[in-house]
Amino acid sequence: MAYLSASCVVSVICPNFRSKNQSNSVNYVRACRASNEEEKPTSSKPRDGGDSQSKFDRRGMLFGGFGVFALGGDMGMSPSSNNPLTPDFANCNKRVIINGKEMNCCPPLSFTKTIHDFILPDISSPRVRPAVHLITPEQLHKFENAIHLMKGLDKDDPHNFHQQANIHCAYCNNAYKQLGFPEDDFPVHTNALFFPFHRCYLYFFERICAHLINDPTFALPFWNWDSIPGMQMPKIYNNPDSPLYNKLRDAHHKPPKLVNLNYVRKTEDPHFDVECSNLRWMNKQVLVNGKYAGFLGEIISGGHEAQHSGMGSIENSPHNNIHDWVGQPNAPYEDMGVLYASARDPLFYGHHANVDRVWTIWQGLHKGKPRDYTDPSWLDSSFVFYDEHRKLVRIKVRDCLDNEKLGYVYQDLCIPWLYTKQIPRRRRPPTKLPAPEVIGFPKDLDSKITTVVKRPKKSRDKEEKSEEDEILVIEDIEFDKSSRVHFNVLVNVVDDGSDVSPGNSEFAGTFTNISHGHKHRVKTSLRLVITDQIEDLGLQDDETVIVSIDPKVVEDKVTIGGIKIELHSS
Ligand code: C2O
Repeated sequence: MAYLSASCVVSVICPNFRSKNQSNSVNYVRACRASNEEEKPTSSKPRDGGDSQSKFDRRGMLFGGFGVFALGGDMGMSPSSNNPLTPDFANCNKRVIINGKEMNCCPPLSFTKTIHDFILPDISSPRVRPAVHLITPEQLHKFENAIHLMKGLDKDDPHNFHQQANIHCAYCNNAYKQLGFPEDDFPVHTNALFFPFHRCYLYFFERICAHLINDPTFALPFWNWDSIPGMQMPKIYNNPDSPLYNKLRDAHHKPPKLVNLNYVRKTEDPHFDVECSNLRWMNKQVLVNGKYAGFLGEIISGGHEAQHSGMGSIENSPHNNIHDWVGQPNAPYEDMGVLYASARDPLFYGHHANVDRVWTIWQGLHKGKPRDYTDPSWLDSSFVFYDEHRKLVRIKVRDCLDNEKLGYVYQDLCIPWLYTKQIPRRRRPPTKLPAPEVIGFPKDLDSKITTVVKRPKKSRDKEEKSEEDEILVIEDIEFDKSSRVHFNVLVNVVDDGSDVSPGNSEFAGTFTNISHGHKHRVKTSLRLVITDQIEDLGLQDDETVIVSIDPKVVEDKVTIGGIKIELHSS
């Protein structure tokens, strides 16, 4: 993997430790030329034999044998077992209510009524998805041409750009119920279907583009927002004469404005160093909070009402924040800032290609340790799309775990955040911390909550720490999923904390919700890994930790059920 090579190690631009007399501003060593360099496209993933795809038979347990099946029908599942989820594609609800308006985002069904099982393509050489900021004129021309052709198709053609955007609207606003469970919605956000759904969606979008321009090597560009040269809205989307342009965006965020990966709508520009803070935040979300299931989100099982069983770290932030940052700053936040409309902005596909790339990086990092789930109820869950021949295809999660089997890889670039750990903020809190009150829960989040939380064990030695991680759990967060929520979780902060950035060890995590679906109160928990942070902050011998929940956006009542710290084997 190129990104683990020595040339990348020297490219770290945000030092992990500061010398004593260093000023608050990070001393930039702009050594990261490599992130501007084009390197040879190689696999971004090691083949370490841990791929769950090989461990399971390609036929699912419950859907086995349905080589081709018609729309609808009884799948004979019982809600008591762990069932995979599949959308009831034929019975798409044409009258979902979004923002008080009735909306039809169902796909046209006049083309075909038969759903075929997805078959992995024959790959001679993989298509290489380029970073947008390194795109060649030829690649740009092809991409613009594909989107231009898509936009010109008949409006009822499933390949039409608006129809492609509607796929996201239908899947994200519960136009589909689960096949076999007509009462239960089919959710592709805030749970472990997030990564696979968007991978499959982009796969077919890319194949359709390739088909339209008659170039099988076509690959979607990715918006490399996790690298310094990629931290602004890519210029190719900001040309009003291009089919990649979209009016419905926040005008203040045009290039060269830098994206804040923990952006909170309507706040002032951050006073901290955004670039380094972003890189440290990526490190935290992928390598720290993204340990365990924390990266993928939690599995939901068919036949259960499970709207918010648990969002993965990247979906939570920066994925949601970037949607917010691109979309218009005021309600209804179209296009990117609200899920039903977001895919109408061509930038959506660049954003999600990078989200998908981060999944491939995460998969490649966990050598020898379990990465993706091996639970069949996840692996056999499926989605339905029109392919490039307007054939309906059912693709399972297990079919899309390996991007290379789908025939594409990402341009191989340095990943600077692999080496940019969070660091404590410079201003030290007073040594004798005034002990905040212990708060009683549940509590409404109408202002900042600061409380003292007991640790299960203090003074853990190196071995104990490598065996078990310390996890801060914000329990039973209750909110309305159609309303916006953003709060930050800080540890060891007794002052106003206004100078704490996501790049600081005090910043344990964040919770975001972008409006989706109809009004409905849901409950979820947030799990943040704080093992190293406790040490960075010199708290290893303390029995308790001070935890604050700092609300940034609360549109409707949000209640916190409790806060605890537990140990989790790593
Ligand atoms: Cu389906 Cu970025 O959301």
